[in-house]
Amino acid sequence: MTIKQMKTIVTLLMKTVFKLLVLTLVIGEVLAERCRSSMKEYDPESQLCCDFGVVLKFNGRGQKLDCCTEKTFILETEICCKNVSNKFTEDGKEQSCCGAMHYLKSEKVCCNSTLYDKLNGINSCCGLSPIDPKTTICCRDRNSNKRPHSIGIRMKCCGVEYYNKTTHYCKDSKKSIVLPFSTSFCKNTKYDKLKQKCCTGTLHNVSDSDEQYICCGTKLYNKVEEKCCGGSLTIPHDAECCEKGHYNPKSQTCCNGLPVDITSSTEKCCGNGLYDSQYQECCGSVIYNTSSHQCCQPGGDIIVKSTEYKCCGKISYDSHDNVCCTKNKFSGETFKIITKSVEYHDTCCVPSDIEKSQSFSSITHRCQLGGIINKTVMCGNHPYNETSDLCCGGVLDKMGLDEGRDCCGIKSYNKTTKICCDNTIYRKTNKESCHQNSIDVIHQTLPKHRDYGICSYCNLHTIQNVKEFLESATNLCKQFVLKIAKLNTSMAGNTTTVDGFIRKDLLSQKTFKKLKIQFQVPCTCQLNTRSIILLTDLDDYSKLLRLGDSNLIIPWSKTASNYIRKRAKCAKDTNTFALETVAGFKISIEYTKPELKGRDRF
Ligand SMILES: *[C@@H]1O[C@H](CO)[C@@H](O)[C@H](O)[C@H]1NC(C)=O
Ligand SMILES: *[C@@H]1O[C@H](CO)[C@@H](O)[C@H](O)[C@H]1NC(C)=O
Ligand SMILES: *[C@@H]1O[C@H](CO)[C@@H](O)[C@H](O)[C@H]1NC(C)=O
Ligand SMILES: *[C@@H]1O[C@H](CO)[C@@H](O)[C@H](O)[C@H]1NC(C)=O
Ligand SMILES: *[C@@H]1O[C@H](CO)[C@@H](O)[C@H](O)[C@H]1NC(C)=O
Ligand SMILES: *[C@@H]1O[C@H](CO)[C@@H](O)[C@H](O)[C@H]1NC(C)=O
Ligand SMILES: *[C@@H]1O[C@H](CO)[C@@H](O)[C@H](O)[C@H]1NC(C)=O
Ligand SMILES: *[C@@H]1O[C@H](CO)[C@@H](O)[C@H](O)[C@H]1NC(C)=O
Ligand SMILES: *[C@@H]1O[C@H](CO)[C@@H](O)[C@H](O)[C@H]1NC(C)=O
Ligand SMILES: *[C@@H]1O[C@H](CO)[C@@H](O)[C@H](O)[C@H]1NC(C)=O
Repeated sequence: MTIKQMKTIVTLLMKTVFKLLVLTLVIGEVLAERCRSSMKEYDPESQLCCDFGVVLKFNGRGQKLDCCTEKTFILETEICCKNVSNKFTEDGKEQSCCGAMHYLKSEKVCCNSTLYDKLNGINSCCGLSPIDPKTTICCRDRNSNKRPHSIGIRMKCCGVEYYNKTTHYCKDSKKSIVLPFSTSFCKNTKYDKLKQKCCTGTLHNVSDSDEQYICCGTKLYNKVEEKCCGGSLTIPHDAECCEKGHYNPKSQTCCNGLPVDITSSTEKCCGNGLYDSQYQECCGSVIYNTSSHQCCQPGGDIIVKSTEYKCCGKISYDSHDNVCCTKNKFSGETFKIITKSVEYHDTCCVPSDIEKSQSFSSITHRCQLGGIINKTVMCGNHPYNETSDLCCGGVLDKMGLDEGRDCCGIKSYNKTTKICCDNTIYRKTNKESCHQNSIDVIHQTLPKHRDYGICSYCNLHTIQNVKEFLESATNLCKQFVLKIAKLNTSMAGNTTTVDGFIRKDLLSQKTFKKLKIQFQVPCTCQLNTRSIILLTDLDDYSKLLRLGDSNLIIPWSKTASNYIRKRAKCAKDTNTFALETVAGFKISIEYTKPELKGRDRF
C-alpha cells in the first residue's frame, strides 16, 4: 500500500466520522435547513436556495434545476453565464461560459474570461494566454502559476521558467530558479564558480576549479604552502598535525596532542614521556628496551626476551608449563592460557569452546576439528617401524630402538654412554645421575615449535574451520584459485596422490570442461570425494603437480569461494606472506614464484 493510498483511506475514515457527528447533531435538532437569502426554512431534498429565494428543485417535467442570477435553469439543456442560455445551438454545437459570455466550444478558447479564436493550432490555455501545444510548452510551478514558452530542443521546464539544459541547470523548481552551470549557491549567496570557491558556506575569491586551493572547513588554503589538520586548522606545509597545534617534524614530535621538542629524530613519545626508538619501544604507555624486552600487545605485559615467557594476547605466560590457546572470530581474537598436560607439549588444540582446549605436541599429533589425533605411523614426515625405529618427538632415528638408543626430547642418545635429564643430554662421565650438577650440556633437546603448510590443511573438512582459517589468514595472494571436483585419492607412504577435474578458476571466472589435474602432497592427506579449492601459482596442469607449502588446499564451499575470490588478489610487490591460523598454529609460508619449494622439516 502506498502512502498516498493510506492517506486517502485516513481521509475517508475521518470524513465518515465527521458525517456521523453532523448527522447526529442534525437529527438532534430539526430536519429542515434555513435558506440564507430569505431566511426561510427549506427542504434541500426538493427545494433550492437561490439568491432570489427558495424555489422547487425540479420543474413540471421532472428536470433538475439549479440557480442562475435571477432565475433557475435546466441543468441538462441550459447553461448559466450570468444570464441563462441554451447549452446547444440550433445546429447542435455545444456552448460554454466565458465569464458572463457564452461561446461555441468548437470555435473559441476561453482563457481567464477572455475569448480567443481557435486559429493556427491554438486550442488551449496557458494561464492568461491561448496556446498551440504543438509549438508552445506551458511551464507551471507548484502554485499553478503558468507561463508559455516556444518549444526548443534540449530545453526543459524549471517551475515557470524554460531553460537550456546544455548551459543551465534548474536549482529550484519550486521557486523557478535557473542558473548557468558556472553559478552556484554558497549557503544562501549566489556566486560564480569561475571566480569563487565555497568552503562550508564561506566564499573565497579563487576559482572553484583551481586545484591548488583546497577547503579546510570554512578556510581556503594553498596546498603547496599549507596543509589541513582535523578539517578546520591550516598549518604550514612542512609541519605535522598535532591535536592541540602543529609541530615541526625536524625538531619536534606530538605527545598527547601537544608539540614537544626533541633532540633526535628517533625520539618518540609514549604516554607522557619521550623514548629513543633506536633501542626502545612503547607498550601502551610504558617504555621498554627492545633488545631485552618484548611487548605482548599495546597496554599488555612486557616480557624479558629469550626466556620461557611468551605472549598470549596481552598476557604473558611461562611456556615451560603452559600453552597459549587462540581462537579467531569476526569480533577478534580470544586467548586462554592453559597448563600443559605433558611437558613437551608445544601448542594448544582449540575446539569450538575455548574453555575445553587441550595441550598437545604438534610433532606427534595434529589438531583436527578441535580434537587431537595421532599422526598414525608417521614420525614427523616419515613412515617408521615401531618395532625397530625410534621416534623422538617426531624426529626419526632409523633402527634407534634396535640399536638400544632412547629419546631425550627430540634427540636420541646412546643409553650406555649418555644420560638424559630434563630434556638435556649429558655425558655419563660428567654426570652420573640427574641430581648431580654439571655444566657439560651436549644438547638442549626440547622440541621447537614448527609450522606446517599444506598438510595441516588437507584435513580440514568442516566449513567452520575453513572459515576460521580464512578469516585469520592475512594474505592469500595466488595467481590461480581452482575449484577441483570428483576427487580420487590414493595414499602411498608419505605422499598422497589426488586425481580430479578442474571446474573453474574462481579468480578469472574461467570455466573448464573435463580438464584433468593430478597432484601430490607430501603427507597422508585424508581428502574424500568432496570438491576442494586449490590456491596455486602453478599453471601447467598437463603434468603431475608436486605441491608444497606455497600452495594451499581447502574444502570447497560457497562461503570459502566468495571469501577467497576477494582475498586472493595479490598486492603488487608481495613476495612473502604470513598466515596466522586456528588453534595456535602460526604458519609462515615463503612465497616463491612458480617453482616448488622443498619442505624443510626437522
Ligand atoms: C441579460 O439579461 C438582461 C435582462 O434580461 C439583459 O438586460 C442583459 O443584456 C443580458 N445580458 C447578456 C450578456 O445577455
Ligand atoms: C484572471 O484574471 C483575473 C482578473 O481579470 C485575475 O485576478 C486572475 O488572477 C487571473 N487568473 C489567472 C490564472 O491568471
Ligand atoms: C542551448 O545552448 C547551446 C550552447 O550555448 C546552444 O548551442 C543551443 O542553441 C541552445 N539551445 C537553445 C534551444 O537555445
Ligand atoms: C573578493 O572580491 C570582491 C570584488 O572583487 C571584493 O569586494 C571582496 O572583498 C573580495 N573578497 C575577499 C575575501 O577577498
Ligand atoms: C637494553 O638492553 C640491552 C640488553 O640487555 C642492554 O645492553 C642495554 O644497555 C639496554 N639499554 C637500556 C637503555 O637500558
Ligand atoms: C597415539 O599414540 C600414542 C603413542 O604412540 C599411543 O599411546 C596412543 O594410544 C595413540 N592414540 C591413538 C588414538 O591412536
Ligand atoms: C620392522 O622391523 C622388524 C625388526 O627389524 C622387522 O621384523 C619387521 O618386518 C619390520 N616391519 C616393517 C613393516 O617393515
Ligand atoms: C654406545 O656406545 C658404546 C661405547 O662407545 C658403543 O660400544 C656402542 O656401540 C654404542 N651404541 C650405539 C647404539 O651407538
Ligand atoms: C617421503 O618418503 C620417501 C621415502 O619413503 C623419502 O625419500 C622422501 O624424502 C619423503 N618425502 C618427504 C617430503 O619427506
Ligand atoms: C575417479 O574414479 C572414478 C571411478 O573409478 C572414475 O569414474 C573417475 O573418472 C575418476 N576421476 C578422475 C578425475 O580420475
